[in-house]
Amino acid sequence: MSTLVIDPLYVDPLGTAELAAAQIATRTAIARHDVALVMGSGWVGATEALGTPTHEFNAEEIIGFLPPSVAGHSGKIRSYEIDGPSGSLRALVFLGRTHLYEGKGIEPVVHNVRTAVKAGCKVVILTNACGGINTTYRVGQPVLIRDHISLTATSPLIGANFVDLTDLYSKRIRTIVKSEDASLQEGVYVHWRGPTYETPAEILMMRTMGADLVGMSTVPEAIAAHALGAEVLGISLVTNAAAGVTGEKLNHEEVIAAGKAAAERMGALLKGVIPKLI
Ligand code: HPA
Repeated sequence: MSTLVIDPLYVDPLGTAELAAAQIATRTAIARHDVALVMGSGWVGATEALGTPTHEFNAEEIIGFLPPSVAGHSGKIRSYEIDGPSGSLRALVFLGRTHLYEGKGIEPVVHNVRTAVKAGCKVVILTNACGGINTTYRVGQPVLIRDHISLTATSPLIGANFVDLTDLYSKRIRTIVKSEDASLQEGVYVHWRGPTYETPAEILMMRTMGADLVGMSTVPEAIAAHALGAEVLGISLVTNAAAGVTGEKLNHEEVIAAGKAAAERMGALLKGVIPKLI
């Protein structure tokens, strides 16, 4: 029989997130950040467009954050000052994230966004690499997440916490992003636990359910951030056709390479959009 061991750090997850936010405020000497960005596989290069961070440190130096376990995820936290039409704002950027497939439970997966909200962030931008289920999508194409389907049967919320998810991926923000780049499409993202990629039959099932994109992240973070009152933007970068679409085998290296190739475009998009969100 397996026993679920809860790390004492996460017995009071919001308390731990508050402590983490306080540590970030001390390290940066910035009391409140405005926008959080979580940079997924291959997205790290996109941060170049944001300029030079004012602060950078290893995430694991902050309470509740685990060391990175995936190639292409660097495990750093950065603070940026970003100029906009109505003054400058502060962005808290997480390079890499913890995934459900790491087997550490759900709490460390959502600790980043809980910390961000406790640090003052009103908007949380979640980026990821994903497989394209929708056969009109091309590798290197960014897609705004309009909605999701959770296939992991795991929620970051506990108890009688009946949070409405109708506008989880904020329509207000999607409209702003599309005014920046009218060519952007919207899609439904399926959360797959991994670490295996899906089988072709599973992809067929997902397509039949109405899904366009599949990946191993984002959904728990979106729910946790929304439950704490933040507005959420999700952007998926299609790094490969999903299993069975082309008959090619999938591998992590192609995912990272597609992310790198799209970094400049993704960076320009984020830089253009961030000042308009707050
Ligand atoms: N499936 C799941 N996760 C992924 C994929 C995929 O095809 N590509 C990048 N992340």
